[in-house]
Amino acid sequence: MTDKTTDNKTTGAKDGEKSLTIAEIASFCKSTGMVFPNSEIYGGFAGFWDYGPRGVEIKNAIKREWWKTFVQERDDIVGIDGTTITHPKVWIASGHVESFSDPLLECEKCKQRTRADHLIEDTLKISTDGISLDEVNKLVRKHNMKCPSCGGALLDARKFNLMFKTHVGPVETDSSVAYLRPETAQVIFADFRQVADISRLKLPFGIAQIGRAYRNEISPRDFLFRSREFEQMEIEYFVHPDKTGECSYLTKDILMQKVRIYTEVAQQESTDDCVMTFKEAMDESIIKNPWLAYFLSQQYNWFVNLGIKEENLRLRQHREEELAHYAKGCFDIEYKFPFGWKEIHGMADRSAFDLTQHMAYSKKDLSIFDEETKKKVIPCVAAEPSQGVDRAFLAFIIDAYTKEEERTVLKLSSELAPLKVGVFPLMKKDGLKEKAEEVHNGLKKYMVSFFDVAGSIGKRYARMDEIGCPYCVTIDYDTLEKDDITLRDRDSTKQVRVPIADLKITLLKLLSKEITFGDAGKSI
Ligand code: GLY
Repeated sequence: MTDKTTDNKTTGAKDGEKSLTIAEIASFCKSTGMVFPNSEIYGGFAGFWDYGPRGVEIKNAIKREWWKTFVQERDDIVGIDGTTITHPKVWIASGHVESFSDPLLECEKCKQRTRADHLIEDTLKISTDGISLDEVNKLVRKHNMKCPSCGGALLDARKFNLMFKTHVGPVETDSSVAYLRPETAQVIFADFRQVADISRLKLPFGIAQIGRAYRNEISPRDFLFRSREFEQMEIEYFVHPDKTGECSYLTKDILMQKVRIYTEVAQQESTDDCVMTFKEAMDESIIKNPWLAYFLSQQYNWFVNLGIKEENLRLRQHREEELAHYAKGCFDIEYKFPFGWKEIHGMADRSAFDLTQHMAYSKKDLSIFDEETKKKVIPCVAAEPSQGVDRAFLAFIIDAYTKEEERTVLKLSSELAPLKVGVFPLMKKDGLKEKAEEVHNGLKKYMVSFFDVAGSIGKRYARMDEIGCPYCVTIDYDTLEKDDITLRDRDSTKQVRVPIADLKITLLKLLSKEITFGDAGKSI
């Protein structure tokens, strides 16, 4: 049924190649002004990152592309934008107050707190997803693990709740405690009644949201991968409880698509991931629900269509013991980061867990009237596509980051590029600057255009390559005579000559991939 693949645990470069580190990516993002530590003038603030001018454009483009694919282009999914602080009962009903925690180890001597699963992963190089407190304590004792900071003895592991607490109102008492949302999902559940009524959608339908979430990570690390404030893009997809086994969107083409899957069994037996079709994964009950298969394919293809190489993607089935408290089944889409295969997308089957909980705690009816059976039903969330914007940003940057002999080039897809075109006069004099400004002003209504006169033309190209700008336009002495310009392609560095009158439409066609660079103009 399947082709075996290798390399489950490492992301090392091929022989002789120097592997990319996350520190190199963080330093690249800082030097290009894309992302830098928050409050750096005060020494930074662990787990908090700010996006600079280029970074915010890429991040906004990621959100825009996701919203376009999963909300704008679909008739069955609508969007909301809820608050980041909500009624504390939301988090009691959802189970987060009780269960949203990570295992923590505290040093008896220096009191430093360390995330237990990370310490075990780093020391023993084993996967610890879903590890229990008992298992942590056994491993700590067996391998005589000590405090990573001072070498002191470690106290028994305990749970640490990841939600940030705050107080709402002028008086700080136990009853004024509220939480910053650790996931956007619960706001969708709490607003379900309103949205279902107002949108008049019939099951199955989805509600999507992009917004900030907060987790008080014990040890934030790996740059943007594990931060304390981040943004999520989530959909709760509601299905009739008797129809979770039917998904009309699951076409033959999707079923025959091959993907790399790291199954629960392969993880238990420490064997490799393997390539199989969605159909094979469903036939073998690896993916148990067709909605999960469908949305996994859509989210996986979203990454691929925006430029992530398939060799760096795989699906990983969650093992029974690591399932979140609300999940009946779950898959991650993993990306091969410099620090290993890690989640960039989570896809859970949440069943009717959340709506049932909120019905019980709010005493409000969150059921839907089913016209067919003339009965009220509580919809099931057969699939919850959920991903961090910042993790997607990191994966897109790493995948696009290319070191060539003479230059560093960010080969971002044109949709995500922070600037679409750079416009440069060859010289400042002889009317070239004014002509270039005229061209730039004519383009900026239609795309993000950047005007630059500083430095040699080579340096200006290099600055554009580094931040992923796909095209550059140079105005030279020929332009003044023939009213045409040189258009340069970032990836191939090839150049063509294009009449100014055709420039806007040529660029729009290139950016939307309607034409290739070879068809853009006369080769030079
Ligand atoms: N809503 C799922 C998550 O935040 O992981």
